[in-house]
This record gives sequence, C-alpha cells and structure tokens, in this order.
Amino acid sequence: MYYKLKTFSVGLILLAFQANANTDVDKRIQKLLNSMTIEEKVGQMTQLDVRQVTNTSPEGFAVLDKEKLSTIIHKYKTGSILNAAGKPMSISQWHTLISGIQDEALTTSNKIPVLYGIDAIHGVTYTTGSTLFPHNIGIAASMNNQLGEDIARATAMETRASGIRWNFDPVLDLARQPLWSRFEETFGEDPYVTQEMGVGMIKAYEEGGLDKPTAVASTMKHFVGYSAPTNGKDRTPAIISDKDLWEYYLPQFEAAIEAGSSTIMINSASINGVPVHASKHLLDTVLRKKLGFEGLVLTDWEDIIRLHTRHKVAKTPREAVKIAINAGIDMSMVPNEMSFFEHLTDLVKSGEISEQRIDKSVAIILRLKFRLGLFENPYPEKEAIKNFAKPEFKQLALEAARDSMTLLKNESLVKNGAATLPLSIDSKVLVAGPGAHNLGPLHGSWSYSWQGSNEERYPESTKTLIEAFADRVGADNLSTFAFEGYNNLANYDVDGLAKAAQSVDYIILALGERSYAESPGALDDLTLDKNQIKLAQAAILTGKPVILVLIEGRPRIIREIEPGMKAILNAYRPGSEGAQAIVETLYGDNNPAGVLPFSYPQFTGDYSPYDRNFLTDVQQLQVTGESYNGYKPQWPFGHGLSYSTFEYSDLTLSDDNVAIDDDLLVSVNIKNTSKVAGEHVVQLYVSDLYASESPAVKRLKRYQRISLKPGESKKVSFTLDTDDLRFVNSSLERVVEAGDFEVMLGTLKKKFTFVD
Ligand code: BGC
Repeated sequence: MYYKLKTFSVGLILLAFQANANTDVDKRIQKLLNSMTIEEKVGQMTQLDVRQVTNTSPEGFAVLDKEKLSTIIHKYKTGSILNAAGKPMSISQWHTLISGIQDEALTTSNKIPVLYGIDAIHGVTYTTGSTLFPHNIGIAASMNNQLGEDIARATAMETRASGIRWNFDPVLDLARQPLWSRFEETFGEDPYVTQEMGVGMIKAYEEGGLDKPTAVASTMKHFVGYSAPTNGKDRTPAIISDKDLWEYYLPQFEAAIEAGSSTIMINSASINGVPVHASKHLLDTVLRKKLGFEGLVLTDWEDIIRLHTRHKVAKTPREAVKIAINAGIDMSMVPNEMSFFEHLTDLVKSGEISEQRIDKSVAIILRLKFRLGLFENPYPEKEAIKNFAKPEFKQLALEAARDSMTLLKNESLVKNGAATLPLSIDSKVLVAGPGAHNLGPLHGSWSYSWQGSNEERYPESTKTLIEAFADRVGADNLSTFAFEGYNNLANYDVDGLAKAAQSVDYIILALGERSYAESPGALDDLTLDKNQIKLAQAAILTGKPVILVLIEGRPRIIREIEPGMKAILNAYRPGSEGAQAIVETLYGDNNPAGVLPFSYPQFTGDYSPYDRNFLTDVQQLQVTGESYNGYKPQWPFGHGLSYSTFEYSDLTLSDDNVAIDDDLLVSVNIKNTSKVAGEHVVQLYVSDLYASESPAVKRLKRYQRISLKPGESKKVSFTLDTDDLRFVNSSLERVVEAGDFEVMLGTLKKKFTFVD
C-alpha cells in the first residue's frame, strides 16, 4: 500500500492564483507592477544590510546617513533592509531609524514601503531590555510545545514593538552533525520534534494576522540540508540521498508550509555537489511544486555572489545572478554591495531573464508587504510598544529555562546512600569553571550581538551562575573559583581550584562552551577543551563530590571525566534566567524533567542518531561473533532523569491489527512512585520490525509532558494512524507495508500487525 509524495501541479497553483486574481490586493499589486520600472522591480528583490544606510555614532549606535539613504532608496530602489549595526538600540532608537527609512521610501513615486527583517532567534537580539529565552535546543529538551509557542508569541510582540515585522526564524534544520556550530539553534536530531515545535512557533508568530501589531512574518530556514555538513563546518557540503531528504529533512518544511509560514531562507551550502541557491530542482520542483510553497524565497547572506566566489558554479557574478533567479530566488540578501542590482537589471533589459519572471517575485514581495499592513502604515506602531518587556515574559524565560533542564546523571553518595542531587541548602559548595562567571555561555549566539560574546552588552540585572548561587545559598556556604572572561587562564588554574575546594562539601563545575555563532564556532574536535578536562580532573582528584553543569550549545565529549562526576546537569543555552533555573534545579526547587533531544555522543568518531537503522548496531569486533552495541552514545536520545520516580504499567492497544484507514489508540498508566511532585515526558516510539528497505530501529511518534503529584497515577493516551507507519522508499514513495510493528513506552512494548 503506498501513496506518492504530495505533488502539487503547476496547474493547481495557477488555478489558486487565478481564484484570488480579483481581490483588492491583487488589483493593487497588478497596478503597481504596471507602473514600476525594471529598476524598481529589481530594487524590490534586493535586501541590504542596515550599514548601507547608517553610520555608527560616537556612542556606538547606528544612525541614519541621509545621503546614503537617499542613494539606496532613489538610485537603487531597495525594497528590504536587514540586521542591526553597533550596539543594541532602545525601542525609540529603532523607531527613529525605521521611521527615517520609511519617510524616504514614501517620497518615491510608487511609495512602496521598505520591509525590515531581523534575526530574533531566541528573543529579540538587538533591542535593549528585550527578553532572551533558552535556545531552541533547550526548548526541544522541555518537549513542551506550548512553551515554544508562548516564546514565539512573546518574541513576535517584542520584535514588532521594535518596529520590525519580519523575523528570520524558526530554524528547522536537523541536528544530526554534532560538530556543526549552529546545533543550539535547532530542535535536535528528530524530524518529528522539529516539526511539532517549528509548526507551533510559526503559528504563534503569524496566526494573529500579519497586519496586527502582535505578529511577525516567520522564516523557515535553512532550506534544506544545511545542518548536515560532512566535515562539520558551517556552510560546507552535505551529501544527502533523496530518500533521506524526504524522510528526515523535508517533512518539517512540508508541515511548516502547511502551517502558513510566509517566507523561507535558503541553505548557503550544497547538497550532493549542487549549491542549493542554484538548484532549480530543490527551489522549484520540490519547494514550489511538490511542497506547494507560494511565499517569499530569500537567499542567505551573500549567497548569490558566492555561487561565483565560493561554489565556483558561475564564471562571473552576473552569471551567478542568472542562475539563482532562474532557480527560483525571489529576494537576494546581497547585502553589502550593488552588483546584484546592476546585473539583474541588465539581465532583464537584455532579455536574458524575462520581465515576467521577475514580476512573479515582485508580486510575492509586494503581497507580503500588503499582508503585513505596511502599505496602510509603514511606521513602527506606537500601540505595539506596550507589548515590550512585559513582566510575564521574564517569568516565561524562567519557566522555559526550568523546563529545559536535563539531568543526565545523579549517583548515590557513598556517605549516605542518597542521590547527590538535590543539594541540601546547608552544604558548603564551591562554584567553579569558565561558565560560572560569564553571561555569554548562558545565552549563546544572537544575544545582544551576533556572537553573544560581548559581556558588557548584557543587562546589569542578568545573573551569572555565581550571582544566582549567592542569591540562593548566601555568603556563608558559598565559595567561588570563577573569573570574568571565558579564556581567562585563572579559570583553569588547577592548583587554585584544589585549594579553594579544601573546606567545601561539593564542587559545582560549570563547563562547556563559550558563546559563538555560525562559522566562528567551528570545531576540529568535539572533545571538551583540554584545559576544561584538566580542571575537571583536578576537581575529581580532590575527592569531593563533583557536580558537572554543562552550559554548551552542542554535546562536547566528556567520556574521560564522566565517571568521576557524581551528578551531571545539561543546561544547554538557558538564556537570561538560566542561572537561576540551574541553581533552583541543583537545590530541588525545580524538579528536572527535560530530556535529550539528541544522542549525546561518547566518542568523537562515533555518532549515530537514535533512529539509525538496525545494521548500525551490528559490530563484529572479534574474528568470530558479533555484538549489537553499535549505538553507544554517552546518553541516548530521550534520556533525562528526575528527582521523582515513575512507573509504567498497562500498555494497551485498541487492536492487534490495523488496516489502512484505522486509528490505533495506545494508552499507558504512569505513576509517580516517589514522594516528590514531578513532571515527566512520555515518549511513544514505533518500530517497523521488517520492511522491504532497512527500517529504523525506532521512531518517536508522539510525546507529552505530564505532571504527577506524589503517588498520583495518570492514564496517557495517544492516537496513531497509518501515516505514522510509513517510510520513504527508494522510489520516493511514502509507503506502509504489511507486517509487524512494535509500540514502546518507557520499558513497555507491544506488537501489532498492519494488514494490507
Ligand atoms: C545566517 C542566517 C541569518 C542571516 C541574517 C546568516 O549569516 O545564516 O541564519 O538569518 O545571516 O542575519
């Protein structure tokens, strides 16, 4: 039994377009197209960096340069501007900047407003006083979809309050290459989690109606396969089979398009040797025709000219423009020179690219401007300001950080047989490590600067880990051995650490990663930095129980030091309230329930996602005999401990056999068998036991975060349908095959049969 992957024919799209053709907006778009020059049309397809219209003031802020602005608006007729320059700005500085740009745009004959776009990836990056939430990797760990939606809603409001109506978010890339420096921006390695979280955020960004002062246009990014570079470096080639593309990398885009995301940004790199920006197959056949996307297709940074300078598929920048436009790009994030404008104008005038072709893109761009209400009011909306920095956003950031906390290990202490965590408030603790005295690591990328590493830009009120400890335990029980500056050698002084630990009961070690974004976060080795390993070894040598707090964007290898740690908490990039959430978790005020949204690797040379196929597990390590331990992460996908204990029972399926139109109701009882109230992520996996092409060992199909009081039981039910049993075969059909399947919840399993 199979059905073909969803295919939208060109005819259908045209019909849909024609059905709308008489709306008021369509008429206005057509009228504009009729009166626009080729230069004006190409200008609409151009997106420039804000530095093209600003200078930096002596205080370090971006201020409009009237002459530059006039050139950009009148000579180059630019339709879109992005980014921030210099220090983060106040709401009123943003309003002045954007109003100045729109004032100029309205002096042109067609009065087309400028569309401003920004990266508000985990909250608003470039506005002072904004709320910075945990990065997506932590949101995914919470497995709390509602949380993602609430964060997107808050981010939309703060973005719009800053006068900006387009957010380049969410990232739908899959984190299946742990070296990749944008791991923290993703929802982890699983397409279903990514789809659920991504769709929730997109709806929250857009569903209120783009013309409302609480919404922004979202951007699905980066289409597609950006996160799987073979060598792990940012913006480098990936090799992905079509089958894997449809099985793992495209479904979340398909769902996001259906959820109504307005724009999409293209992967800067290449798949199977073809730069995605040059791929008519991916941008047109797959994205437009098969997935039915009708919104705006935006390049990533400089990615058209890079077809010439980096990819070498275009002999000249002019040819690069021709290739990208023919492939299906609507708008070029140029963003710092004018050759795109010159070349595309010339290509259209010489007839090498038809005016009809660019009209299609311009219509899409104008439509978005209409939907965003920019033609009605291009200026920052005064009524949006009240939605900025609402007290509940700070609370939401705290709750999100709490929910993301993932307890990886919690051993019993020899002393009293009790688990190491939670700590007693009376114990004396030493807090050490480079993550303890610095805000960058708690926030990661896109935090008041691109790299997030400008410590002086964080608000006074944001707490470092040692400050949050001081608040909770007071001076008497707290010693610290942590210093400003992630690379400050004082942080790695092993003798100093041992000395400082002499009179304490526990050492809390905050290790992991400095803040970084994109290519500057490149790694050659996934192992935790040597100086941190040495610090950990020195801490272990003191004989005091050591608690490791990982503050990191991607899983760094800690195999060598893990056995010496009594407890390990993964905090990911928990954001502005992260320090408090960590401390609350260590002292039991917050009972952790986060689970790993990725397989935490144990070895640098050994990474497999949890949904590998069965053959991955088979190892023949001796001349004779074989083992089945090919998947040997430090901790598997879905792992996370709690201070509560939970027991699963009564796994029930509504039927032992299912046919094509049947639903399968799966239910299970979960009991909190401890004396502590706790939350718990229920994860439902399905295995296809045998299939005509190697099946995955298991796939996550449903999840739900529940809360249980001490002694409380809950029955949790999920409904599966036969789409949940399908896989993409080599003919790119999504098929379900007759045979046996297994459902897994906790340690319980049950088989059922799909009958064709
Ligand atoms: C990143 C994008 C981002 C863009 C604009 C690029 O370098 O890859 O994710 O949206 O810059 O800032």
